[in-house]
Amino acid sequence: MTSLIQNIGRLAVRTFRRDPKLPAGAFTSHYEQLYNLLNAVTTQDINLDLGLLHDHGAFTASKDGAPVTYMQLYENSDVTICVFILKNGVRLPLHDHPGMYGLLKVVHGAVSVQSYSFIGDTTVEGPQSGLMGSPTLSDILPATKHQLLKVCASDPACRLCPGEQNIHEIYSLDGPAAFLDILSPPYGTDERFGLERDCHYYQEIESRWEVSQRESNLVWLVNVPTPSDFWCDQTEYKGPIISEDGDEHGS
Ligand SMILES: [Fe+2]
Repeated sequence: MTSLIQNIGRLAVRTFRRDPKLPAGAFTSHYEQLYNLLNAVTTQDINLDLGLLHDHGAFTASKDGAPVTYMQLYENSDVTICVFILKNGVRLPLHDHPGMYGLLKVVHGAVSVQSYSFIGDTTVEGPQSGLMGSPTLSDILPATKHQLLKVCASDPACRLCPGEQNIHEIYSLDGPAAFLDILSPPYGTDERFGLERDCHYYQEIESRWEVSQRESNLVWLVNVPTPSDFWCDQTEYKGPIISEDGDEHGS
């Protein structure tokens, strides 16, 4: 019998397969199915070690090791399925997902999600989307700041797409938190299209704007190096193996 996470994995592969021969509308249909299925996932479904979720109090780098633990469930050339575990009071720094879709489902605890959308980001689906304007350090980019969300395990997944809510910062709230992430295409080298999808980090710049600009949620984001206090260790996935079924391209 196929488990929920295996079904999610297969559907994610089907949804994000970059095949130009797929009929129009297939993506939307699969994506909505995937979103609904993902909303039911729990820590039990992925056999998450509850020891990783133990609350040791406010994070201290000298005694707690990495602030964030990464666990990869599956990856092929089109999609990454992974879990991020955040210790008490830490954050995934403000970062982007160049040309990528993302689904983020909290499975333990609660997080705050502060999202932004680059203004003038007219990226559309396709291998080049979101990559033509890759920022270099110190680039300053205008963005819309969205409403701060508090998301917990009983809430539906958050979504991001190539041109919308594509930059975010995520804090654990009131203790450790864990969320399942489905990202497509994956970060890194895209061998199929000969592209690099690097993750860039940002800081919001304080500015003395006119009231009208502040009220419109217009902000400026500066591209910065990876924050030195942020790093991940890794843990092995011990849940049901996500098969290659439905993955015609292999990994
Ligand atoms: Fe992210």
